[in-house]
Formats: sequence, C-alpha cells, structure tokens
Amino acid sequence: MDKRGKPILEIENVTKIYKTKGGTLFGRRSKKVTALNQVSFDIFKGEIFGLVGESGSGKTTTGRLIVSLENVNSGKISLDGREIIGLKGGAQKEFRRKVQMIFQDPYQSLNPQRSVFDTVSEPLKIHRMGNASVRRDTVRQALKSVGLSPPEDFLYRYPHRLSGGQRQRVAIARAMVLNPEFVIADEPTSMLDASISAQIFNILLKMRDKLGVTQMFITHSLAAARYLCDRIAVIYRGNLVELGPAEEVVRNPKHPYTQALIDAVPKFGHSKDAKRYRTLLSKKREVAEDKGCVFFPRCAVAHEERCARNQPGLTRSGDGHLVGCFLSESLF
Ligand SMILES: Nc1ncnc2c1ncn2[C@@H]1O[C@H](COP(=O)(O)OP(=O)(O)OP(=O)(O)O)[C@@H](O)[C@H]1O
Ligand SMILES: [Mg+2]
Repeated sequence: MDKRGKPILEIENVTKIYKTKGGTLFGRRSKKVTALNQVSFDIFKGEIFGLVGESGSGKTTTGRLIVSLENVNSGKISLDGREIIGLKGGAQKEFRRKVQMIFQDPYQSLNPQRSVFDTVSEPLKIHRMGNASVRRDTVRQALKSVGLSPPEDFLYRYPHRLSGGQRQRVAIARAMVLNPEFVIADEPTSMLDASISAQIFNILLKMRDKLGVTQMFITHSLAAARYLCDRIAVIYRGNLVELGPAEEVVRNPKHPYTQALIDAVPKFGHSKDAKRYRTLLSKKREVAEDKGCVFFPRCAVAHEERCARNQPGLTRSGDGHLVGCFLSESLF
C-alpha cells in the first residue's frame, strides 16, 4: 500500500473493446477498437489525478467506465474497496450519488429547456434528498460555491442566457450538489478561453482543498495537468505508459511519449535553455505485426528488435513513478 493510505478508486487490468460496424458498401464487417488495454492505477483520497493523452487515447472511456456508463470487457473497478460492477439497489444508488462526471462540452451537457434551478436541483429530486425548501437552499449554496453569485441572478435563467464559463459552472454545481466523494472532470475547459479556464481550475482546486473531493481530471494538456494535479498518468492508445507525481512527470519524464508531449508544450520545450527530447518520429514506422510496444511506430529512440517484439510492463523508476518503457532506465 502507498503511504497516502487507502485508495478511493482502484482500476485493475481494465480492458475495454468497442465493436464498430464496418462501413463498406457491400459487406458490414465489424471492427474492434481496443480503447483501453490492461490499464491499472489507484486514485487516493483527496488528490486530483490527471489523465493525460492525445485524442482517442481512451481518456473519456476511462471516465465512462468509472461512472458505469459503460462496462469493462475484463478487469475490475472498485470504489472504497467495493467492486462497482454488479452493484444493485441501495448500493448502486449510493454509488451514483458518490461518483459524478462533468463533461467536456457545457453547450451539450445542459438541457436547453431547463432553468439553472431545474438542472441543479434534479439530482436532489432523483435521490429524494431534502424537501423543497432544503433543496432550494442546497442549490443556492452550490451556485455560490461555483461563483454564480448572487444565486438569485441565475436560478431561473436558461442555458442560452449563460456564457460558456457560466454553463460549465452550472454543470459543476449540478455534480457537486449531491456532495460526491469522487468527481471526474472530462476536459472541462476545452471549449473555454484561457482566463475562464483558469477560473474553472480554481473551482476544482477549491473543491479539493475545502471539501476534500477527490478528482480525476482528464486533459490532453500536460501544462493544465501540471497546474492542477497531484499526480499524472499518461496514456497512449489505451495503454498507461507513465504515472507519477505531477512535478516529477513533467520535470523528469521517462517515457518517450511523455517526452514528446513535453516537447510539444511551447512553455516547457521551446525556451532557449529548455531541453528538447526529440523522441517523436516525423514519419511513422510501418509495423508488420502489432505485438511490440504501442509507441514503437512513432518512437525515435526505440530499440528496433526489442521494442518491436515485446510489450513493456510498468516498472518503478523512483518514488511512486512508474514507466512502461524498456529504455527508460538504460538511456534516459
Ligand atoms: N461508443 C464507441 N464506439 C466505438 N468506438 C468508440 C466509442 N467510444 C470511443 N471509441 C473509440 O475508443 C477510442 C478511445 O476513445 P475516447 O473517447 O476514450 O478517447 P479520448 O482520449 O477521450 O479522446 P478525445 O481527447 O478526443 O476526447 C477511440 O479510438 C474511439 O474512437
Ligand atoms: Mg474524450
């Protein structure tokens, strides 16, 4: 067990495969996409855990599996030591209260027909929490806590009269109103400009520091994850490739993919004294068989045989730092 104590969330060897229908004109062959491949990590109470990766790497899938919007093909997900698959009745209801997800696009996640009050109070109704006056107070408090103040100015507005940042605050208030233990924020600021994003980040930090809400923050931006997160996990095409304390992963990245992400951040990689790793091939390698390291086709520092033939497991590289690369110890 880690010195942080018991994990609130445990993901063990989770694999998720989507079947899609092939789109040829004459035949419909189904295609399989492995969105997550044997992914394992723990999230500890009170931390913000960053899940970082490019588009299609499996970030949203991870979130949807945790909130049980999807089922795993294999592996196990547990909250507070209890496996979430197969929860029924009261235990399932309690799980649905404890775990909430905030989605990327506040323009799509809010119902345009519903006022702010309707939207934020709905989970309280579903969970039969409080009477009408308690609910009204709880909604007011939730709006204040996300900076929609005074709440009276917002309660009866509809989404079309809210800015993008205000909409996302409403979505956060809706997630927070049930007093959850664990919140997944899936790219909550990708539709917002930088100054509004910073305000949303500060709300998430306040949720951690004042209310002790554990969070998984999903982003494609290593810079955002560094600002917000205690630990960072990097995934590449459904595979966890690196995990560690946020500062450590950014300052001392060990996986060539993480290093490529650092190179891609102007602030980290392009100042005069900044180290550039140059681990990304400009032209992808053709790979005959898909049995080697998942990053091999794009890796500029790969070992032509070893990395083409075998999949590296995660190995320890310092305190709480895990890396899935054969070369991490010998070359970097
Ligand atoms: N419902 C689905 N049916 C089929 N394939 C899916 C489905 N949802 C996701 N996928 C595929 O699974 C993979 C992972 O998708 P996912 O949405 O988790 O990525 P992501 O990291 O969230 O990407 P983005 O940064 O673009 O949001 C992708 O290849 C995607 O096309
Ligand atoms: Mg996504």
